[in-house]
Amino acid sequence: MKKVDVILGLQWGDEGKGKVVDVLTPNYEVVARFQGGPNAGHTLEFGGEKYVLRSIPSGIFQGGKTNIIGGGVVLDAILFRAEAEELAKSGHDLTRQLAISKKAHLILPTHRILDAALEAAKGSAKIGTTGKGIGPTYTDKVSRSGMRVGDLLSPDFERIYAAAKARHERMLRSLNYEYDITELERQWFEAVEYLKRFRILDSEYFINEALTEGKSVLAEGAQGTLLDVDFGSYPFVTSSNTVCAGACTGLGVAPKNIGEVYGIFKAYCTRVGSGPFPTELFDETGDALCRIGHEFGAVTGRKRRCGWLDLVALKYSIMINGVTQLIMMKSDVMNDFETIRVATAYEIGGERTEHFPYTITDDLRPVYTDFEGWRCDLRGCRSYDEFPEAFRRYVEFIERETGVPVKIISVGPDRAETIVR
Ligand code: GDP
Ligand code: IMO
Ligand code: MG
Repeated sequence: MKKVDVILGLQWGDEGKGKVVDVLTPNYEVVARFQGGPNAGHTLEFGGEKYVLRSIPSGIFQGGKTNIIGGGVVLDAILFRAEAEELAKSGHDLTRQLAISKKAHLILPTHRILDAALEAAKGSAKIGTTGKGIGPTYTDKVSRSGMRVGDLLSPDFERIYAAAKARHERMLRSLNYEYDITELERQWFEAVEYLKRFRILDSEYFINEALTEGKSVLAEGAQGTLLDVDFGSYPFVTSSNTVCAGACTGLGVAPKNIGEVYGIFKAYCTRVGSGPFPTELFDETGDALCRIGHEFGAVTGRKRRCGWLDLVALKYSIMINGVTQLIMMKSDVMNDFETIRVATAYEIGGERTEHFPYTITDDLRPVYTDFEGWRCDLRGCRSYDEFPEAFRRYVEFIERETGVPVKIISVGPDRAETIVR
């Protein structure tokens, strides 16, 4: 029996999960997204083309694989349709390669409106969500009043929808939120019909049977560990379990059947939306990371906040997920930096700690270790031995500190710009 390998983000999302899933897919027969929804934006580049995936797994471009939208995902039929039709235009017919779990929850038009209304009501305490209805949809799931993809096949579908909509409208009235749902609702009903073209299945059986038959499965996470609803920088988090345990609940895989856990991180840090960020830079270096790294949200276009690599947070994420292999992205962005800093501890109220704290307060100061920059273009390197010594020192320091090997190093957005050790 094979095990499921999991790939997930160790920071605040946008680490480069899409690129790495695409690179690793040739080794797998099934790729399955286990949580999140169209708040994700996973970018892939190859053959001079660039694609951004939101709900469709990033294994879709490596032909002949089965890609599954798992039960832990929340699906917006309108955005899914737009994404699938865009791929169809570029010659990728998904109907045979993609299957959707009956247990995935549906994002309703009113969930999107509620997301906006709840954010507006929070005022300056807003989370800075992607506005895709993620929080309200997961709230309905947990409060046992959600709608699932499997309900599409039920004769009661319209009745279940009407009850959910009426409940949401009562909430929107109490929030005094003005909206017009007519056009969105029309599109949504058309889009849920479109969904029925795809294979809708009990994905937990599909995946477990695949494992028993000796097929290999890769689970693709969305967001990052520091956005996890339980272990992230709460309340500035998303509404799902982005950690490895989320692959078990999102796909119906037993913990003993998890194999490798690939943890992805950028050689620096970014965050989009509100919430604490200990190593954030507000100076020219932060601007340079943003500019050179093209750090603008793939979904919302928002400027991502940038800062130095934070080893306190990284070690915390490795611990929570049981990471077995590290994957380091975007080191090339710092090619011309003279000095590169890494936070190795925090000082909170004068006390030093290496633990990621319950809340991150204004008196937290990162303690940095400085590295000499490598001052050369990593994008040309195609093996670990070709990397300059200063860069190898940086990588080996991270390995020593975390106790986990860095097995893949990405030095550019293209598939080909990937070094496997
Ligand atoms: P994801 O959400 O984790 O899949 O990551 P995103 O796609 O949101 O953000 C990662 C961005 O960095 C994308 O624009 C990628 O094309 C780009 N990228 C990925 N790896 C590298 C790399 O090694 N170097 C550079 N310069 N860009 C990269
Ligand atoms: P990928 O998969 C980066 C952030 C939002 C906001 C918070 C809650 O591309 O890495 P939500 O819409 O989920 O309720 O927003 O989480 N966020 C992400 N940040 N990458 C993502 O996904 C994100 N998905 C959500 O900016 O701060
Ligand atoms: Mg992203």
